[in-house]
Amino acid sequence: MNERAVLITGAGQRLGAATATRLMDEGYYVFVHVRSSIEQATALVQAAAERNGRACGEVVVADLTVDHAVDGLISTVSDHDLVKGAGLFGLVHNASFYSQSNFEETPLETYRSLARLHMDAPYALTQGLLSALERAGGSVVAVVDTSWGRAWGGLAHYTSTKAGLRQLMLNLAGELAGRVRVNCLAPGAIMAADWEADHFASVLEKVPLGRSGKADDIAAGIAFLLTHPTLSGHVLHVDGGWSIHEQ
Ligand SMILES: NC(=O)c1ccc[n+]([C@@H]2O[C@H](COP(=O)([O-])OP(=O)(O)OC[C@H]3O[C@@H](n4cnc5c(N)ncnc54)[C@H](OP(=O)(O)O)[C@@H]3O)[C@@H](O)[C@H]2O)c1
Repeated sequence: MNERAVLITGAGQRLGAATATRLMDEGYYVFVHVRSSIEQATALVQAAAERNGRACGEVVVADLTVDHAVDGLISTVSDHDLVKGAGLFGLVHNASFYSQSNFEETPLETYRSLARLHMDAPYALTQGLLSALERAGGSVVAVVDTSWGRAWGGLAHYTSTKAGLRQLMLNLAGELAGRVRVNCLAPGAIMAADWEADHFASVLEKVPLGRSGKADDIAAGIAFLLTHPTLSGHVLHVDGGWSIHEQ
C-alpha cells in the first residue's frame, strides 16, 4: 500500500461526497466518515473502486457530538495499517448541520450540539490524529463559511460555531507551524438545503460572478489546500466573489 490516506468528516452526501470522490479518483485512500449516510457512502466507495480498479477507501461511522464516538473514530483511523505505516496525509473537517431559527426560539442544546460538531470534534480529532498527520507531512483543512464579520438572521448558533472553528484552525496553523499545515476553505452559496431554495435563488442573484460554484469546485479547493507545500493559516474563499460583494 502506498496511497496517501485522508479522513473527511460528513462525506456521505453533498459537498463532502464530491470531495471524497475527487480524492479517491486522484489516488488517495479516503476514510469516508458518516453519521447516518452509510448506504450512500458505501455506494460512493464501491463506485470509486470499480472506476479505479483498486480499493479507494472505506466508510467510517460516528456521531461527532458524542465524545466516545469521536475517540472511536480516532482509534479506527490510527489503527489502520496504511496510517500506522505512512501516517495520515489529510484531515478534512467538513461535517455540519445547517438550520435557521430565531435566537429566542433556538434551545441552548441546539447551540451546544453545533459547538460539539463544529469545534469540539475538530479539536479532538486534530489532537488525536496529530502524530499520524505529522508522520505523513500532512495537513488539516476545515470547511467554514463566509459568514463572519456580519449579522445573519436566525443563524447565531451556526455562524458563531463556524467562527470558532475558523479561529481554532488559524490558531493551530501558528502553533503547529513546521509540523502540520492548517487551512480553511469557505464555500459561498454552493448547494441549498431543502428548506432554503427560494432564499438561495435570491442570494445567487447578488453573487458577483453570477454563480457561486459547484460541489466539485469545493472538492478542487480542498485538494489544492491538502497538497500546497507552503500555504498555512489561509482561508480560501470559493464563493464567486460573494464575500467581497457590497452589502
Ligand atoms: N452547502 C453550501 O452551499 C455551503 C455553504 C457554506 C458552507 N458550507 C459548509 O460546507 C460543508 C459541506 O456542506 P454540505 O451542505 O454538504 O453539508 P451538510 O449536508 O449540511 O452536512 C454534511 C454532513 O455532516 C454530517 N453530520 C451532521 N451532523 C453530524 C453529527 N452529529 N455527527 C457526524 N456527522 C454529522 C451529516 O452526515 P450524515 O448524512 O451521515 O448524517 C451530513 O451529511 C459544511 O461544513 C458546511 O457548513 C456549505
